[in-house]
Amino acid sequence: MYDELVFGQIDLEEQPPISEPDRQYYFIKKCRQYVTEFEHLNGRLPKACVVTFGCQMNARDSEKLAGILQQVGYELTEDENSDFVIFNTCTVRDNANQRVYGRLGELNGYKRRNPNMKIALCGCMMQEPEVIEKLKKSYSFVNLIFGTHNIFKFAELLCATFESEGMLIDIWKDTDKIVEDLPVERKYPFKSGINIMFGCNNFCSYCIVPYVRGRERSREPKDIIREIEKLVADGVVEVMLLGQNVNSYGKNLDEQVTFAELLREVEKIEGLKRIRFMTSHPKDLSDELIQVMKESKKICRHLHLPLQSGSTRILQQMNRRYTREQYLELVQRIREEIPDIAITTDIIVGFPGETPEDLEQTIDMVRQVKYDNAFTFIYSKRTGTPAASMENQVPETQVKEGFDRLLKVVQETAREQTARHQGKIMEALIEEVNESSPGLVTGRLSNNTIVHIPGDESLVGSLVQVSLDECHGFYYLGHMVNEMQPLVDNMKG
Ligand code: 5AD
Ligand code: SF4
Repeated sequence: MYDELVFGQIDLEEQPPISEPDRQYYFIKKCRQYVTEFEHLNGRLPKACVVTFGCQMNARDSEKLAGILQQVGYELTEDENSDFVIFNTCTVRDNANQRVYGRLGELNGYKRRNPNMKIALCGCMMQEPEVIEKLKKSYSFVNLIFGTHNIFKFAELLCATFESEGMLIDIWKDTDKIVEDLPVERKYPFKSGINIMFGCNNFCSYCIVPYVRGRERSREPKDIIREIEKLVADGVVEVMLLGQNVNSYGKNLDEQVTFAELLREVEKIEGLKRIRFMTSHPKDLSDELIQVMKESKKICRHLHLPLQSGSTRILQQMNRRYTREQYLELVQRIREEIPDIAITTDIIVGFPGETPEDLEQTIDMVRQVKYDNAFTFIYSKRTGTPAASMENQVPETQVKEGFDRLLKVVQETAREQTARHQGKIMEALIEEVNESSPGLVTGRLSNNTIVHIPGDESLVGSLVQVSLDECHGFYYLGHMVNEMQPLVDNMKG
């Protein structure tokens, strides 16, 4: 990572470097000059706000955007009425897109009062040509638009907004580039997401991700390990390894590595306490991974294993490449080896051609697998995906009725699963002060269940033993137990 000394050596009189990340550091330094100018004119630092839509990958990308803005000299805020606002968008379902358009309208109101305000858009939604057309036509007040493949160029693009008027658009169709070592501003000091791969090659027929995030690319294990080591040195105790399909990690590297092998290496990092990962495609989940999870002291007892549908016929139409039976058999194998594991899932209702019988099969799967939680989605037609042109789209009224029925079963099983730990003592990582109930802090168990305990800010970031006293559906009320600690101390004394 660059430090101030290196910034001092960058000569802005020279042409920008060609190689990355040096080029971006050059533009960070250049942006600093514009920020200083702003400060002289206005008697304060400019404010910037990063708004994230969508998944954990986007959340991590937003930390990278925030890292650049902070290095440039912006004061980061959550207030959208700022000097620079960037929306990091999601397009996995249409309602995500609609929310962006709605919020953009609000930003326009702020911009009328602060004409120097800059508005930027990036992320998955920007990779769709129709979106760009619409923005050009009806949202001309937006200053900067870029996509998922060139996010590493943010400093350079930001600099360009200081040097030009109007709408700047830079969208790449694809990339094989992975730029390491750019600044990151983490949301939490004690936990962090780590990208281990980008893109997806699966082409599930409903999903727009492979079109907007491009082909699968894995980072080199040594770069991942180095990043985690630095994070741990900086106080991180929990990492979440991120990829659209982590189980196919390493397949495109020159020296092939499996995800299980990567996990073994991450496990060895001293000082790291917890490892999570997301997302696992059932078709690629290996026995080797189950073994590594079983033997690990650090990998959390939680597996997110998207089912999407419980009907083999629909799964085939979705191009998921597993059957209902294969999924069930996989779950059985996992539970035999790791009995205390929590399994969560994603389910889509209303995929083209889905009949009430298909949905019954999905509901039956929820009962059989007993998910600890399931994210249920109404199918959303995404332009350009194979499912969008399938003929038998399901009427909305039928979808809604089935969706509600499924949700009820999901909630029942999730409650039962969560309640099975009542009375136990487990380790929780305390993540934040509970905003709605003063005097309580909120922690997360290894199995991803939430627990609220009495405590204050000083506990945030620590791993503590908690007693799970009362189960309230999806979360616990508990209290901290540390009576073991003084006993050991006494014995030492
Ligand atoms: N409609 C509804 N849900 C979708 N997902 C992905 N694409 C769609 C779509 N077109 C869901 C899947 C995936 C999760 C991240 O989003 O369940 O696992
Ligand atoms: Fe989409 Fe399927 Fe890739 Fe997940 S695995 S991102 S659902 S194409």
